[in-house]
Amino acid sequence: MRKLTSSELRSMWLEFYRERGHALISSASLIPENDPTVLFTTAGMHPLVPYLLGQKHPQGTRLADVQKCVRTGDIDEVGDDSHLTFFEMLGNWSLGDYFKKEMIAWSYEFLTSDKYLGIDPSKISVTVFAGDEDCPRDEESAGYWKAAGIPEERIFFLPKSNNWWGPAGTTGPCGPDTEMFIDTGKPACSPECSPACDCGKYLEIWNDVFMQYNKTADGKYEPLKQKNVDTGMGLERTVKTLWGVSSVYDIDLFKPIIGKIEELTGAKYGSDEATTRAIRVIADHIRTAVMIIGDEKGVVCSNVDQGYILRRLLRRAIRFVKQLGAGTGILGKVAEVIIAEYEDVYPELRRNAERVIGEINSEEQRFEKTITSGMKRFEAIREHMVGDTIAGNTAFKLYDTFGFPIEMTVELAKEAGLKVDVEGFEKAFKEHQAKSQAGAEHKFKAGLADNRERTVKLHTATHLLHAALKKVLKDSNVSQKGSNITEERLRFDFNFPRPLTPEEIKAVEDEVNAAIAAHVPVVCKEMTLDEAKAIGAEAHFENKYGERVKVYIMGDYSTEVCGGPHAENTGDLGHFRILKEQSSSAGIRRIKATIE
Ligand code: ALA
Repeated sequence: MRKLTSSELRSMWLEFYRERGHALISSASLIPENDPTVLFTTAGMHPLVPYLLGQKHPQGTRLADVQKCVRTGDIDEVGDDSHLTFFEMLGNWSLGDYFKKEMIAWSYEFLTSDKYLGIDPSKISVTVFAGDEDCPRDEESAGYWKAAGIPEERIFFLPKSNNWWGPAGTTGPCGPDTEMFIDTGKPACSPECSPACDCGKYLEIWNDVFMQYNKTADGKYEPLKQKNVDTGMGLERTVKTLWGVSSVYDIDLFKPIIGKIEELTGAKYGSDEATTRAIRVIADHIRTAVMIIGDEKGVVCSNVDQGYILRRLLRRAIRFVKQLGAGTGILGKVAEVIIAEYEDVYPELRRNAERVIGEINSEEQRFEKTITSGMKRFEAIREHMVGDTIAGNTAFKLYDTFGFPIEMTVELAKEAGLKVDVEGFEKAFKEHQAKSQAGAEHKFKAGLADNRERTVKLHTATHLLHAALKKVLKDSNVSQKGSNITEERLRFDFNFPRPLTPEEIKAVEDEVNAAIAAHVPVVCKEMTLDEAKAIGAEAHFENKYGERVKVYIMGDYSTEVCGGPHAENTGDLGHFRILKEQSSSAGIRRIKATIE
């Protein structure tokens, strides 16, 4: 086993696939574009859904990348040996090109060859799909593993709950997978111990998904137009395995971050369980916050959607700083170390460093005002408890007056052996909302990209809106800072220093409706980013020069680099109407609009 650094593993991965005819693509934004179903990019395949469903990718049929991912489902587990809210996923894709045979041979080579990871083949076990009424038993993959050199006793057939990857409970591309595990050398927990067991003997490091179905809204698995491969290897987890350390926090990437936290707080990592956990939580949450705010489509703290998750992460980190007995102003300094560490891989972090540090410091100041009295209030509630459940109204008070995210109250309660009436909290929250008519949505969704007709039309309307704003405001610097589309409306954030006048709003609507009335075809052309820029296309930050991109052209109205999908003709959109124009954050305006 080779003790590679994170940076060596990233480069090795990309080089391995480049040599095998793959185009290397940039990490997409952490904030999914035009996808109402998830708040963050959760896997490398997420930005590629349209191509897995059959659209042609401008870079070809073989792709590889390192993708920034955020998964906050297990945020409460962070601080143990394995959970992280941000991670990097090494991925490669075949879009209707190679399939099981090549992928399994390459997986074996990458894992075992001394030129690559150099893992002892006798330490590797694999799992394959056992088959059910939707899809047959994957004897084919098992056969390729055997041919590669994995003996039968280390090939495990498991059901859908283990060996199937795709959008859990929702629609989208999916299929059987084969997963690769390393034996940590721990004794088997029982004679039945297998990679399906979470006793710690087997560590999963790689997942090859054979994506050949589309799960439809009625729960059916229909064959996709093409057979795809989608693989994902977690960077931090693999480095941990290669280093033979027991925790992902003990790899190179965390050393400078943890070192800085120790220096600023005076706490010692490893001195006791609670201190170690607190330092890990701070390191993880600030790293994720830096990635979220520092993304080109970065968001700032708010009480809804991504902004709320960010707020939760920062407030949770602040609570653990307090637990270590340290003062304020620490988080921004930790963030600086993270930016310096990652700026070569994700240059947007340096470009947006001011915003990152500024936002972290402001959130710290905002919470600082109330956290101490809030903690006192919590203690008083605990002391005077009757029963073991904190009432919904009480939890709402902690949220509304002291800024405690409900999840934080639940966590504090759990530590004190108490429960919280979360339903009661939601009720109090809704009542308050109705009263203040704030209309803030407080919902978090999960799932994958949706291609419904209306969202596609709203996406096309977003391009027209973008172009119309530039024209009406006579400002070529106006550009997209965020976009989010649901079936009901589009939401578009752009930089502009002041509110739009009613006349300007009307002019923007008229401009978009003129483009719709003109019934211009939506034409998609492929070219390099340089060529796209040369024809004046609006380009997205995440594309690299030289990379092949798709440019959607709508007559003279709009020319923009984008992955699609789009309506075929602007005439299909209907009537465009702006619902709201408001401030989003400093220097950023937000428009909500619909088509009727
Ligand atoms: N999409 C697969 C995963 O995330 C590779 O595990």
